Amino acid sequence: MTVTIVGSQLGDEGKGGVVDLYGDAADVVARYQGGDNAGHTVVYDGDKYKLSLVPSGAVRGKVGILGNGCVVNPETLFEEIDTLRERGLDPDIRVAERAHTILPYHRVLDGIEEDEKEDLAAGTTKRGIGPTYEDKMGRRGIRIGDLLDPEVLRERLEYVVPQKKALAEDVFGKETGEAFDIEHLYETYKDYGERLAEEGMTVDAGTYLQDRIDEGDNVMLEGAQGTSIDIDHGIYPYVTSSNPTAGGACVGSGLGPTVVGQGEVIGVVKAYLSRVGTGPLPTELGGVEGQTPEYTGDGAGDEDEEELATYIRDEGGEYGTVTGRPRRVGWLDMPMLRHAARASGFTGLAINHIDVLAGLDEVEVGHAYEFEGEELLTMPPTTEKWGRCEATFRSFDGWPEVDWADVAEDGYEAIPENARTYLEYVADELGAPIYAVGVGPGREETIVLENPYDGE
Ligand code: IMP
Repeated sequence: MTVTIVGSQLGDEGKGGVVDLYGDAADVVARYQGGDNAGHTVVYDGDKYKLSLVPSGAVRGKVGILGNGCVVNPETLFEEIDTLRERGLDPDIRVAERAHTILPYHRVLDGIEEDEKEDLAAGTTKRGIGPTYEDKMGRRGIRIGDLLDPEVLRERLEYVVPQKKALAEDVFGKETGEAFDIEHLYETYKDYGERLAEEGMTVDAGTYLQDRIDEGDNVMLEGAQGTSIDIDHGIYPYVTSSNPTAGGACVGSGLGPTVVGQGEVIGVVKAYLSRVGTGPLPTELGGVEGQTPEYTGDGAGDEDEEELATYIRDEGGEYGTVTGRPRRVGWLDMPMLRHAARASGFTGLAINHIDVLAGLDEVEVGHAYEFEGEELLTMPPTTEKWGRCEATFRSFDGWPEVDWADVAEDGYEAIPENARTYLEYVADELGAPIYAVGVGPGREETIVLENPYDGE
């Protein structure tokens, strides 16, 4: 069977931990979208692994697949594999030949376009994600499989690179260097192709995954980023360029929707909200210079709110895994979660980080929005309308700081009662049962109520 793990907010919900938790029962873990923009931290045997491309299941000795829906930077891929090897692991990673390759000019153009866009900039990770997906859709991309065939690689580069060079130089007026040099790119990427071939790393992902399922193996489909930054269902244009929602799990893995749909789809929810990047955020607390629209930081915000935001940011370690940028934080946004639950059809929830909110007198939740005098229970389709939504809050009594390691050992009933009330409110509103509750960063600090692979 398959279990699909989907971020239900803005990314950084703790998906890596959930993949890691249920990954024991999985034989293969496949990513279906995104690239090295996806910072995930996995804690295993007391060691912390920070990954951005390699599926987090690979840390636990599972076969890790980068599906056709991914965009792959071979340089990052090999760096991460080499680092894991140096730390004594032997990751088995396969890359879909249909996945698209991130080239150096994609990264350069990502940076240039972000600067040009000003207010419309998404605050990207500048890893070249958007420009690579653009080329995929524009039918001028270079797939991983093309790196294995030098003639095809050269032909593709000769077509596309002059266009990219003209874009950078003539449209944006920038100087270009070796990132736009056909010969340099050809030599470098041909070498990557050789290493991929030597290590037997490329695969026809859909066929491989279906064969494994037919043999009775368990497959986990690991989403990156989150629903509200999905290219179709997110807060466009402040989004990433792929589909983190469960539909992406079919298209981006090569498995049919009937196969993925027979399995489970687990929505990962963080007990509050955090975001790296720009755009509106109705339940935001305080703000972050350069990310919160119109935020100046000099007295514009409410002091109590700023203090609360700093508390949550520090307690939750809300600084980007990849970039180290402080993240914007806010209360849980229920319209955002209802939208996510519908778009992906969650069959279960994993709610993380309730420990971060411990010690507060009161915990608020954006239950609905008020928009032009009406109550909205889900997100409006345009970001402009979303930006005009005012959150209407519900208040919950806070829960105390406790020994979360003990709570994790004792199980769900040991969670402070007020925190359980909060969790059950979320599950009721989303119409999906709680499968797991994260009470700390470690694997053993997650309380498991249900293992989706047990019900096969
Ligand atoms: P890109 O994916 O680098 O193009 O960035 C587009 C938007 O998605 C930006 O707002 C990023 O901050 C956000 N983003 C990309 N990857 C992640 C992630 O793994 N977690 C959270 N936000 C992300």
